[in-house]
Amino acid sequence: MHPLVNIAVGAARRAGELIVRNLDRAGGVTVSEKSRNDFVTEIDRAAEQLVIETIHKAYPDHGILAEESGRHGGDEYVWIIDPLDGTTNFLHGFPQFAVSIACQHRGRVEAGVIFDPLRSELFTASRGAGAQLENRRLRVSAQRAIEGSLIGTGFPYRANTRWLKPYLAMLEQVMQRAAGVRRPGSAALDLAYVAAGRLDGFWELGLAPWDTAAGNLMITEAGGRIGTLAGNPYADGGNLIAGNPRIFTALVETCAPFLGDDLRG
Ligand code: IPD
Ligand code: CA
Ligand code: CA
Repeated sequence: MHPLVNIAVGAARRAGELIVRNLDRAGGVTVSEKSRNDFVTEIDRAAEQLVIETIHKAYPDHGILAEESGRHGGDEYVWIIDPLDGTTNFLHGFPQFAVSIACQHRGRVEAGVIFDPLRSELFTASRGAGAQLENRRLRVSAQRAIEGSLIGTGFPYRANTRWLKPYLAMLEQVMQRAAGVRRPGSAALDLAYVAAGRLDGFWELGLAPWDTAAGNLMITEAGGRIGTLAGNPYADGGNLIAGNPRIFTALVETCAPFLGDDLRG
C-alpha cells in the first residue's frame, strides 16, 4: 500500500472508532437540540484531532485543510480532511456517514481514503494505482443511459438554497428517467459508491473540498468522470456531476438547460 494511503487508513480507522463509540449518545438522545449539536461538534473536532495527530506523527511538516480547524501548516503536502461526513445522519442515529481523507502533493491529490465505520468498508485510491474496496479493484458501473440507472444526489441547504429552483428542475428531469434517485447524506460516501459502481452517477451543488477530494481521485481511478455542472474540469469544492463516462455526459446534458450564469462554471 502507498505510504500516504497507509497513514490515511490508520487515521480514518481511529476517527471511525471514536465516531461509532459515540453513536448511541448522539442518535435519539432526549436532550435539547442545542446540546445535541454541541455534542456532535465535539465529536467532529475530536475525530479531526485524531486524524491530524496520526498524520503529524508520520509527517510533522505536512499541511492540513480540515473542516473544523481550517488551513494550517506546510504547503508542499496538504491533507484534506472531513472527520465526519454525514453529521446530520450521525446526529439522528441514521447509519450513513464516513471519514474522508485525501493527501495533496503540490496541489494535486495523490491519495484518498473514505471509511464507513459502521459497515467497516474502507475505500482507498492512489494516483495511477487504481481504487480499491479492501482488496477488490473498484470499477464504475457499465450503465449506458439514465433510463434504468441509480443516481445519487444531495439537496441544497443553508446558503445553497438560493439554487433550489434550478436544482429542483434538474431533479425533476432525473427522477422521471432514472430507476431511482437517492439522497443518502454523506457526499464522500456517495462518491465512493460511484467509484464502486453502486451508483451510476451523482450530482450536488455547493460542496466543500473536504467532501470531494478523496472521492474525486477514487472516481477517476475507477474509470469514472467528475466535473462541474457544465462538464468542465473539477477543482475540489463547489458544484459537481460525477458518474461512469456515459452517465456523466448524460447528466451534464440533462442539467444544461437549467444552468444560470452562477452555475455554469
Ligand atoms: C455534508 C454531507 C451531505 C452533503 C452536504 C455536506 P457534513 O457534509 O456530505 O451529504 O449534502 O453538502 O456538507 O456537513 O455532514 O460534513
Ligand atoms: Ca462534509
Ligand atoms: Ca463534516
